[in-house]
Amino acid sequence: MYSLVVSIFIICIKILKVTCESSDCLTLKTSITQKIEHEGFHREIWWLLETSEPSTDVWLNSECKLILRLDVTSGMFINPDEIGELRRMGELCALIVGQIDIEAAAHEANEHVLYIFLNNSMIDKMQVFVPFHLRYQRAQIAGDYGKVGFRNPSLLTRCPKGLNQICNKGLKVEAPCDENNNELCIWRNVSYSSYFDNVELFVPVGDLDHYPLVSIVTLLLGCAGCIYILSVLSSSHL
Ligand SMILES: *[C@@H]1O[C@H](CO)[C@@H](O)[C@H](O)[C@H]1NC(C)=O
Ligand SMILES: *[C@@H]1O[C@H](CO)[C@@H](O)[C@H](O)[C@H]1NC(C)=O
Repeated sequence: MYSLVVSIFIICIKILKVTCESSDCLTLKTSITQKIEHEGFHREIWWLLETSEPSTDVWLNSECKLILRLDVTSGMFINPDEIGELRRMGELCALIVGQIDIEAAAHEANEHVLYIFLNNSMIDKMQVFVPFHLRYQRAQIAGDYGKVGFRNPSLLTRCPKGLNQICNKGLKVEAPCDENNNELCIWRNVSYSSYFDNVELFVPVGDLDHYPLVSIVTLLLGCAGCIYILSVLSSSHL
């Protein structure tokens, strides 16, 4: 009797194991190529995302979603107006989370996060362009070039049947459920093959050595202007 119970128990466990193993998850094989275009303060990021697995049909069936997240450091910013314009034209489905002061210099600016909701019908191959701007850096005594940190993008995924619908390992992160940013969802930060090196961006830095000269010239011009206006006023009263 006892051995019968044990063997039934073992059979049950085996059946359970088989059903678990056959409940297949999707393996996401995505590669990202990244390039930074242009020089100076106004630049553009170009990403090429290619997914070899699963096929677009299987992906659409799974109803899983993908977003690309860029953590924007304080040395640069994304202009909400430009993102709004791209959204209106249907070129980019993106959302910025965080306060952005487009005038602030790097040392007094906040970081923010850009989420790009990727089009599921194009997951096999898609290109994304995002304009961004570098901030002015605090002037230094030996002014030349300041380095701006640029973080690599994160690829996040979320599925209707839960995070285990994707086989890829990866930590859970909170991110907006959709581009309307009404609520937060749990996404999985999955790894991808990156076809790019870490980026280093350089911006010209104001040189403090030039400041005394600039202020004296500004002051002199201001004085000259005042004297001129006063002389015009006084001569017109005479
Ligand atoms: C996604 O891409 C398909 C194919 O190019 C297009 O028809 C569709 O409108 C796009 N969807 C969104 C939300 O942009
Ligand atoms: C996602 O994982 C990568 C690699 O582990 C990490 O560098 C990145 O910061 C993570 N992103 C988020 C939003 O947690």
